[in-house]
Amino acid sequence: MVVLNGYKAVKDGIITHSEEVSGRPLTPFYRDMMGEKGIFLTSGHTWKQQRRFGMTVIRTLALGKNNLEHQIQAEACILIQVVGRKIKYFHFSAEKVQREIEAVLEPSHLISYEDRKKLPYTNAVIHEALRYSNVTSVGVLRQCVRNTTLLGFHIKKGTLVLPNLHSVVYDSEHWATPWKFNPNHFLDLDGNFVNKEAFLPFSAGHRVCLGEQMARVELFIFFTNLLRAFRFQLPEGVKEINLEYILGSILQPHPYKLCAIPR
Ligand code: HEM
Repeated sequence: MVVLNGYKAVKDGIITHSEEVSGRPLTPFYRDMMGEKGIFLTSGHTWKQQRRFGMTVIRTLALGKNNLEHQIQAEACILIQVVGRKIKYFHFSAEKVQREIEAVLEPSHLISYEDRKKLPYTNAVIHEALRYSNVTSVGVLRQCVRNTTLLGFHIKKGTLVLPNLHSVVYDSEHWATPWKFNPNHFLDLDGNFVNKEAFLPFSAGHRVCLGEQMARVELFIFFTNLLRAFRFQLPEGVKEINLEYILGSILQPHPYKLCAIPR
């Protein structure tokens, strides 16, 4: 197996040689579980067909009156009601985000994904949360579908390739403080939002996450609505939460309690 480490190597694999490194190894366990169906674990013709179908479905969901964004906005309203009614306990020092939201949006304004352009700091916090939390850990294994050359090394068809996404979102050549939560990673000196090429939590290239857009819209609308409605703080007596992860197929947080106090 070849492990690609750091932005330069991962980019050469999943972006520059995207097609050649677009296969997915199929273990007997996965074959029994999934029956060589679906998008995530398939390769070749099945994968191409299923992925094209999946993309059409997602595009269709994004269109029309009751589109995905409207449904996410409706879910965010329900979420705020549920959190307000049932959950006393849910640290995030979020005053700057709350100040920005209040300065830019009327309290009754229905938050849409487009609003991110007016909320550079909030947008930077969400990007930094995705980078720092590194949900998919080292990413997902690929397989070469034909012979190729990566960073000058010959790689044979069938070779397993791991584009280590962890090494990209923590690459010290691309992030000023990789091991520290720092929204400034996504802001210029004037406070404008800046995209970063090494921001690859959704991977890239032919097998880039199919749900990227949906995940981005959900995260933005849920996060801004929650912070507009509540002040979050640790329950009395609790000094800190455990920021270690639980390793599963993705990285999960340890359970913790937070107080959501209506603002
Ligand atoms: C924060 C949320 C998410 C993150 C960080 C994430 C990240 C990823 C990553 C790293 C991959 C592997 C791509 C590769 O092979 O290099 C992936 C694949 C995939 N994701 Fe996501 N994902 C998220 C949410 C979602 C959602 C909401 C959906 C569905 C609506 C989704 C559907 C998929 C599918 C179908 C694939 C397989 C693509 C393929 O193999 O062609 N993801 N995702």
